[in-house]
Amino acid sequence: YHPAVTTFRLDQSDNVRTKAERDTILADPRFGTVFTDHMATAVWTEGDGWRDHTVGPLRPFSVHPAAAVLHYAQEVFEGLKAYRHADGSVWLFRADANAERFQRSARRLALPELDTAAFLDGIEQLVRVDADWVPAPDGEKSLYLRPFMFATEPFIGVRPAREVTYCLIASPVGSYFPSGPTGVNLWVTDEYVRAAPGGTGEAKCGGNYAAGLAAQLAAQENDCDQVLFVDAVEREWLEESGTMNVFVVTRDGELVTPGLGTILAGVTRGSVLALAEDHGLTPVQRRIGVGDLRAGCADGSITEIFAAGTAAVITPIIGLRGKDFDLTVGTGKPGERTLALREHLLDIQFGRAADTRGWLRRV
Ligand code: COI
Repeated sequence: YHPAVTTFRLDQSDNVRTKAERDTILADPRFGTVFTDHMATAVWTEGDGWRDHTVGPLRPFSVHPAAAVLHYAQEVFEGLKAYRHADGSVWLFRADANAERFQRSARRLALPELDTAAFLDGIEQLVRVDADWVPAPDGEKSLYLRPFMFATEPFIGVRPAREVTYCLIASPVGSYFPSGPTGVNLWVTDEYVRAAPGGTGEAKCGGNYAAGLAAQLAAQENDCDQVLFVDAVEREWLEESGTMNVFVVTRDGELVTPGLGTILAGVTRGSVLALAEDHGLTPVQRRIGVGDLRAGCADGSITEIFAAGTAAVITPIIGLRGKDFDLTVGTGKPGERTLALREHLLDIQFGRAADTRGWLRRV
């Protein structure tokens, strides 16, 4: 594979960790804790556009204390993974979908767009220079890629910044939840709202995650692993769990997930909807109420619930708690369809199942 466009210049340093250090990290990479030896950066200024595309050593930023991002959170990010196949080759999964979502998020936050060719070129060059950091296929181990851009102009008046920095870092990861696919419990908050119509719910911006942290603490205080948000208006309809989209499997063979608008348009969400029919499930996007969950878990018409995201892959939801309810989903163990969809998705990503949809891209 040869990239159509080369935008990023390689500034390769000898600032690399030893094979022994890397092997120790790759044996048990805990999500989000370690980073590879390099990063990609570029700078945008109003009038001149993007410049200084570089893949160089990972190093701290020096930012002015007045940088707009530090005050008004003008920032967007992405998450995607590189997977090593059994033959040693390395592949990206639906990276073009991430490029497009990054552009949509940027528009919503009044940030400049990075075009798809530059987005992909930066990723491919970083993954190539840090190729030894892509873990061998083992469980769900992969190299998590985190593209982001933020307002660096030193100005504390409120308007879109005229200087913006793009950066891409990479982190070898295992499963997001230490419990892995054994299943997690969600806390359905009636206290906090993640997004309202017209807000930034569909954008992947840091502010959405900052606003969800208090809710996540409340989830932990209630012995749950994550929060599940409901809509801002009626406080009834499921939205998303903050780091994952949510899916319900019914006894009638439907795979139901909330429609878009105030939730993240997850790449994994879209992939799961596309795979549903291979599993005898009818994909449906419609609203699901907390009342529906309570009734469906009680009478058995809801058989499985799971959550999906790049970081979390497909994570079974085995329990749902709220202020006045405590539901066990199905048998309280990961559901059959959930695990089959999870295996199917991982098999495609790791090259063990045919990529009939053209989702993979070799680095
Ligand atoms: C992802 O699944 O890639 C995400 O961005 C969720 C996260 C913030 C860890």
